[in-house]
Amino acid sequence: MRFARCDETAAWAALQAHFDAHGRSFDLRQVFAQDTGRAAALSFEAPEVFADLSKNRLDATTLNLLLGLARERGLEAHRDAMFAGETINTTEGRAVLHTALRAPRGQGPFSDQVHGVLEAMLAYAEAVRDTAASGIRHVVNIGIGGSDLGPQMVVPALDAFAHPGLTLHFVSNVDGHDIMRVLRRLQPADTLFIVASKTFTTQETMANAQAARDWFLAGGRMKESQIAQHFVATTTNAEAAARFGISTTFGFWDWVGGRYSLWSAIGLPIALAIGAEHFRALLAGAHAMDRHFESAPLERNLPALLGLLDVWYRNFHGFTSRCIAPYHQGLARLPAYLQQLEMESNGKRVDLAGTPLALATSPVVWGEPGTNGQHAYFQMLHQGSDVIPVEFIAVRTPAHALADQHRKLLANCLAQSQALMLGKTREEALTEAAVTAGKTVDAMTLASHRSFPGNRPSTTLVLDALTPRALGALVAMYEHRVFTSGALWGINSFDQWGVELGKALASELLPRLDSGDTSGLDGSTATLLQRLRA
Ligand code: F6P
Repeated sequence: MRFARCDETAAWAALQAHFDAHGRSFDLRQVFAQDTGRAAALSFEAPEVFADLSKNRLDATTLNLLLGLARERGLEAHRDAMFAGETINTTEGRAVLHTALRAPRGQGPFSDQVHGVLEAMLAYAEAVRDTAASGIRHVVNIGIGGSDLGPQMVVPALDAFAHPGLTLHFVSNVDGHDIMRVLRRLQPADTLFIVASKTFTTQETMANAQAARDWFLAGGRMKESQIAQHFVATTTNAEAAARFGISTTFGFWDWVGGRYSLWSAIGLPIALAIGAEHFRALLAGAHAMDRHFESAPLERNLPALLGLLDVWYRNFHGFTSRCIAPYHQGLARLPAYLQQLEMESNGKRVDLAGTPLALATSPVVWGEPGTNGQHAYFQMLHQGSDVIPVEFIAVRTPAHALADQHRKLLANCLAQSQALMLGKTREEALTEAAVTAGKTVDAMTLASHRSFPGNRPSTTLVLDALTPRALGALVAMYEHRVFTSGALWGINSFDQWGVELGKALASELLPRLDSGDTSGLDGSTATLLQRLRA
């Protein structure tokens, strides 16, 4: 389908006019003072996720105009095309069907294949989890990008559900320090390696898999024939895995994008950690969010609303980044996971027709868990020169019994979004005693340093508990949110050509590191290459 360009729609012009008239001067403190129903009106319920959008710079008019833009851009039709398995990844000629991976049997496309692999994988995971019989105590997932970040994020998030006798390790970087850090603590006899790669050609993963194989066989301590029990592959390329010598392979399909693949066989480390029942709950949570995205009216459709808010901030307010601050230590890797999800999906500069866009696309996504972030980058969020919308994720019930610590965590989470919004005037700062202030600084100067502009936007997402089901729903919410902003911008959120050039140049430079040949290189690269060889 050929849409009008996003910034050439009538809705876009109306949004620009609304931004010029009201958006630029929008003040969160004022709107809360004027409207006691604001929090209720801008709070949304989706499966497992409650979202408070009220501390964002939007009002009913903004929302209506954004919804108009979504409709003018055909968001619902594009969404339906994805769920129906149409080839919406046009540049790779592929369908985009990660949603089929979490549909109950008989309810999604390719159901027999999906459930066939799922059942085989879960049965395998349960057999390994019987550690007395399997003898396995350590699992090393070797993969990178989408074949690493999903399991690496989910496994610690669901630590409360994890098998106590199995330790999961993740190796991704081609930097040998990464794998050596892991291997030096392991014994081959009780270690299982998962070689996870959609293509089974990725340089980093192949190098690490080879290093693992060499380590396994080193000194004759394990035999070639034992590779079959200690190496397993998760890939769409079973032939390449077999050539590597791996006989147990769990497959998936080209319609599963790497960064959308934790629900597929790539989720094997997750299944090993939390078991079949919890893995199914993770899928069920994601499926519940799929149903919400598919069927809720856009006015109450949480992923769609978040995607629309992202467009409002990126293209009208000009905010260049979004900070993710999960107030749950288990979600420490969520920002890194979301970096790939959002920036690899929507970091594009041409539309589906290949025409350069005259508007900004993916923001920078970054963050760290609270409260740690408060003692590092939050200074900039509160008083820096850029406005950076923050996304707080709070979990009501912890998996531990340290009630006092959990109350402190939640109080901090609430306080940060409050502080960002309320700020502190110079007059207020003047009335306060600052015990650590320098003796010679005058009161007005000090008050300037100690004031906060406020009016800084944030979203707070609340989960009742970090269960497999809730995490599945949360991650699917992010996937559909990224889909929404990508669809509005009219880009292909499902290819990643931007990673190709660096890979090709690295292959060309590799032999030069041995030979020292710098002919034809630019001066900088030639100098650095020589320096690194020395
Ligand atoms: O970084 C590019 C990329 O293709 C990602 O999209 C993908 O998740 C990652 O490399 C790993 O690819 P593979 O699973 O094929 O090893």
